[in-house]
Amino acid sequence: MTTVPHMEQEPLRAKAAAELERARARSSALTDALDDDELVRQHSPLMSPLIWDLAHIGNQEELWLVRDVGGLPAVRSDIDELYDAFKHSRASRPALPLLKPGEARQYVDQVRRKTMDVVDRVPLSGRGLVENAFAFGMLVQHEQQHDETMLITHQTRKGPAVLYAPEPPRAEKTVLPQEVLVPDGPFTMGTSTEPWALDNERPAHQVRVDAFFMDTAPVTCGQYQEFISDGGYDRPELWTGSGWEHRTKANLRAPLYWRRDGDRWLRDCFGVVGPVREAEPVVHVSFHEAQAYARWAGKRLPTEAEWEKAARFDPESGRSRRFPWGDEDPGPRQANLGQRHLRPAEVGSYPAGASPLGIQQLIGDVWEWVDTDFHGYPGFTAFPYREYSEVFFGPDYKMLRGGCFGTDAAACRGTFRNWDYPIRRQIFAGFRCARTPGGGELG
Ligand SMILES: [Fe+2]
Repeated sequence: MTTVPHMEQEPLRAKAAAELERARARSSALTDALDDDELVRQHSPLMSPLIWDLAHIGNQEELWLVRDVGGLPAVRSDIDELYDAFKHSRASRPALPLLKPGEARQYVDQVRRKTMDVVDRVPLSGRGLVENAFAFGMLVQHEQQHDETMLITHQTRKGPAVLYAPEPPRAEKTVLPQEVLVPDGPFTMGTSTEPWALDNERPAHQVRVDAFFMDTAPVTCGQYQEFISDGGYDRPELWTGSGWEHRTKANLRAPLYWRRDGDRWLRDCFGVVGPVREAEPVVHVSFHEAQAYARWAGKRLPTEAEWEKAARFDPESGRSRRFPWGDEDPGPRQANLGQRHLRPAEVGSYPAGASPLGIQQLIGDVWEWVDTDFHGYPGFTAFPYREYSEVFFGPDYKMLRGGCFGTDAAACRGTFRNWDYPIRRQIFAGFRCARTPGGGELG
């Protein structure tokens, strides 16, 4: 943490406080939308009851910001064990003696009042945890990530819609080239300077990537329907061994939340059922389905390094940007982030968010599966605890990049890394394809 530039402390405190409040407004909106019975109920065995997420957000904030950074006595040490994500599986959480919704709300408010006092007074130097207000940034990201998790729970829930948001912008009528060539050569992957970057994004390091073609947009529902119509789910040769095994066992026939209605497909989007929109990126597909589609299309999934090079590398300056469009934080013109909309936007809707090579919608809309296992970068150091990333390293997880419509800008950057099991479909994940140039294609 010694390489991060020192920022002025007062603006940093103001930023940390504002970001904490913004995250809390979202957590409250996601939980206030439902009655107590729906908050304590488990809507899917893959997800926690929403009220567990809320109290867990407060408990992590208490552990890190109130007790550790603030040096204050515990608010409720008796509940630490209940809200430790490593002690109880999601499926087992509804049976725990959890705080009731009213108690949970009171608890998170109580913790937050103490946190706001800590953010005002604690010195922001002398310890890695507080340099550049890192601990506050970590808890902002933690809360926003759980808000995305709660949004996933809302999608799994049955019953009438309770969340509303305007429709995403419509695509400009320009036709994008299908793919662009990303040139061969080294680029800087990861970061050593982004103040609130998490341990798995660090440190910045050079990676050499051979020339490859990257699709300019994520795979759309229209394209995915062609794969289905062409027997994509019935052709083992398109799937890897483990992919086919899972496809058979789980009887996969289409993305999660799709259902057949005569000769068309319908999709349930937060309780609103409507026709699948052809120009929208496909969402709720597993890594295995993404891989099978790519093989059907004569392509493959990009590696994580390829994805990040496509998203950050500026061939003109040779440097890596924070985001495809530059170094400025995302705004509504650049990317579909922050639950501003409740679905991905049609491809071509964010020309202002394009990378220097003209690749669009790398940030926002849908998380993109990439064909790389989770590992630490060379020089990785667990910070501030091994359970953030390191315990997940290994071949069990595949990486997801770029964030989705439900990811907040505070928890999304060109370097941000997410991971999940290759069979998972409840997350807001889609993909785009890449391709190795054939003989003679590079002239
Ligand atoms: Fe958590």
